[in-house]
Amino acid sequence: MIGVFDSGLGGLSVLSAISRALPDADLVYLADTAHLPYGARSDGFIRARVLAIGRHLAAWGCSTVVVACNTATAAAVGALRSEHPGIPVVGVEPGIKPAAASTRSGRIAVLATESTAQSAGLARLIRDHAGCATVHVVACPGWATHIERLDLDDPELAAEVAAKVLPLLDAGVDRLVLGCTHYSFLAPLLEPLIAGRAELVDVAEAVARQVERLRTGSEQREGRLALMATARPQCLDAALPTLGLAWLSARSSGPAQLAEV
Ligand code: DGL
Repeated sequence: MIGVFDSGLGGLSVLSAISRALPDADLVYLADTAHLPYGARSDGFIRARVLAIGRHLAAWGCSTVVVACNTATAAAVGALRSEHPGIPVVGVEPGIKPAAASTRSGRIAVLATESTAQSAGLARLIRDHAGCATVHVVACPGWATHIERLDLDDPELAAEVAAKVLPLLDAGVDRLVLGCTHYSFLAPLLEPLIAGRAELVDVAEAVARQVERLRTGSEQREGRLALMATARPQCLDAALPTLGLAWLSARSSGPAQLAEV
């Protein structure tokens, strides 16, 4: 069984890529909705949540764990790996490397939570992989919360997104890295805004390929999906159609359950 988790709905973008890449894998998705957003929390708080969820998923029998959250990866993937040396742990980091490799203008931007924007992990990625590219790091407080509310058509959100992104385009940015798994669901808003000037960089499919590489041979493969949330599990079921993921419900073994983690 492959365990995938995030603070809330964002990791569903990664789950859907894994689900498409591995149609026979048994998957469990846990949304830590009682504690979101992670992006405004301290590293210590996020680490405690990641370790608690890791123990919960290990107890469920997960043989691989995917931290489907850039913020949690930056704050705690090392601690999670140390606590479970026998379980492959896949994290999600902003796609600085593919953005820097493909930019023509030499200017890229990463949109991220406040926590990720300030993290040592992002600074390291930029140092190691941005090469000569200029990297604009842009914190986007509140965006994940908008997505949790599913108010994706809210004109206020559209105005906020435009206010962050248009100055980047005017500065010559031609690659926009989605440095938070929630922001994949903003693609319908972002794509028309950047059309002809820049491209989005999302690592969800690369993460799915990494999960495929690390997969152990021993696990059961019945293509089932269990959904869990630490608060309001019914919101997880309700969100799937709005996020264009109704097809995932067909794979799910029943309504989302409350997880006491
Ligand atoms: N989805 C998360 C990420 O990739 C965090 C969003 C939040 O809870 O602030 O960073």
